[in-house]
Amino acid sequence: MTETTAPSAVIESASAVTEFASAADSESAAAPLRVAVVIGSNREGRFGPVVAEWLLARVRERTDLVVDVVDLADADLPTSLSFNPSDAVSAELAKVTPKLAAADAFIVLTPEYNHSYPASLKSLIDWHGAEWQAKPVALVSYGGLSGGLRAVEHLRPVLAELHAVTIRDTVSFHNAGALFDAEGNHQDPAGADAAAKTMLDQLAWWAWALRSAKEVRPYGS
Ligand SMILES: Cc1cc2nc3c(=O)[nH]c(=O)nc-3n(C[C@H](O)[C@H](O)[C@H](O)COP(=O)(O)O)c2cc1C
Repeated sequence: MTETTAPSAVIESASAVTEFASAADSESAAAPLRVAVVIGSNREGRFGPVVAEWLLARVRERTDLVVDVVDLADADLPTSLSFNPSDAVSAELAKVTPKLAAADAFIVLTPEYNHSYPASLKSLIDWHGAEWQAKPVALVSYGGLSGGLRAVEHLRPVLAELHAVTIRDTVSFHNAGALFDAEGNHQDPAGADAAAKTMLDQLAWWAWALRSAKEVRPYGS
């Protein structure tokens, strides 16, 4: 049997489309998308900043994105969560929470540790909730043979639980240490540059779509 749509539903849905179109035409729809790049490793002697600088250069080339950096080496978030954090913990949270809250989208940069992502990232994720909600997350990974892809696949269901939307395409660096020269330049950049463009295009689409939708209708309402 063919399902029929009640006339009132058609009228409501038409008016939602009109509202969405007018939001899409508004000034804010044209405003650059705010992307927070999370550097997930805080390990002493970490390689993360090399990959982060490469990524940031690609993001900064774009006129549709403005970038902020959340470096987990700069914020000492404890693994013990609390609804009443101490002044010291609040001060650490203040280094990251406003940046997450202000972001329209995220790029999470993760290494692979023991076939998953590092505890520093889990801590950042778990300390927050609404800051992730109804926002897209692109994933960039690095590591040994697997290029951090197992870390990426572990992050997807965790972020879904927080109502975030992970981007299908990723950028991954296998045996990352050998790919960059001493100045941090990728030695054979064509493949990685193309992958970054694909991922950033998808991230920008989702970020624009979700930001525009939330202007018309708050998430979950
Ligand atoms: C505790 C630990 C566990 C690791 N486990 C893996 C692993 O399971 N798979 C892998 O490909 N690389 C693994 N590696 C290699 C890291 O992914 C690689 O050294 C990467 O550069 C680490 O990122 P960081 O230097 O920014 O912390 C591991 C490294 C560490 C420190």
